[in-house]
Amino acid sequence: MPAKKLSQKHSIDLNKLSWNDFHALPLTDKSAFFKKDPRVFDCLFAGQFDKDILNDLFKLADKIRTKAQTKRGLDKLQQLLSHKRACLYFAQPSTRTFLSFQNACHILGIKTSDIRSTAASSEAKGESLEDTIRTMHSYVDLIIIRHSNPYIAEKAAWIINQTERPIPIINAGSGPQEHPTQALLDVYTIKRAFGRVNDKKIAMIGDLKRGRTIRSLTYLLNNYKNIHINYISTDSFKIPDDLVEFLDKSNISYSQSDNIESIKDADIVYLTRIQDEYDVNNESKLVDHSNYWLKKEHLKLLKKDSIILHPLPRRNELPEEIDDDPRALYWQQERNGMWIRTALLAYIFKVDKAI
Ligand code: CP
Repeated sequence: MPAKKLSQKHSIDLNKLSWNDFHALPLTDKSAFFKKDPRVFDCLFAGQFDKDILNDLFKLADKIRTKAQTKRGLDKLQQLLSHKRACLYFAQPSTRTFLSFQNACHILGIKTSDIRSTAASSEAKGESLEDTIRTMHSYVDLIIIRHSNPYIAEKAAWIINQTERPIPIINAGSGPQEHPTQALLDVYTIKRAFGRVNDKKIAMIGDLKRGRTIRSLTYLLNNYKNIHINYISTDSFKIPDDLVEFLDKSNISYSQSDNIESIKDADIVYLTRIQDEYDVNNESKLVDHSNYWLKKEHLKLLKKDSIILHPLPRRNELPEEIDDDPRALYWQQERNGMWIRTALLAYIFKVDKAI
């Protein structure tokens, strides 16, 4: 990949920076490094997407899902990238992100291979994460990474973009930090439900401190007008300080509440589970979370035309008895993930115009 420069003001060759110096840069100063001709090439952060790209992806996802309904349409889609191979490197558990990416690849004809645990790769024999990434890069044209290390997807892009054969890296969930393609499907679901995203009130509930979908969705919503987010959680699971700092400078109006009944104003109720895999001292177990579970009795508080979303998997915060409510859209939401991820792959590999 040719050397990427920062803006004239800084004029630093990004290729010459050490990983630590590169990583410390704000996204605005390094986003060019993750682009090619001049599209998003590596999908690592929700902040890489502006409203134009989002609109293009949403329209493309709608087109793809229509075309894929017929054998003729699907056969055509499967020809588009039949010369490409992808590796899905999922070192953290996943059902829907893994399956939706795998099926998104297959819809476009991309052949897939996968590593689903570090115990099953040569990392178990002491190979470094960096060498594991170089090795996957030797065989495929795309790497999709889910990892508990919040920075490894970015580091993979930093390493691979400096090789003689750059290939795209997609972040499929990076520790408690980001889940940009989840945010894509969340906003795509909102757009499909309401026809627009502007002017919406969103209640985000649960583990707001470590929920990567909360962070990425917040970043993506900054592209829209007149958004209000009400963050509802117990005190010890509030949004982290850096997200508060971001919100204070953003276009988003926001509030924080410890009362789940404040969902009554929301157009979108976005629940999340407690992310206890990141507990250090069993801190999740020390708190009674039941005040932040959506219960059947809350449904009467909700606006008639509101929607209920959840990135899933769920626990007690979203009991099955809610599933029959017409406002519960989380099963559609997870299916939307396959279509928007297909659109993202088509966009990255520049076959979108052929669809
Ligand atoms: N929403 C989400 O990332 O689900 P999985 O962990 O099942 O992939």
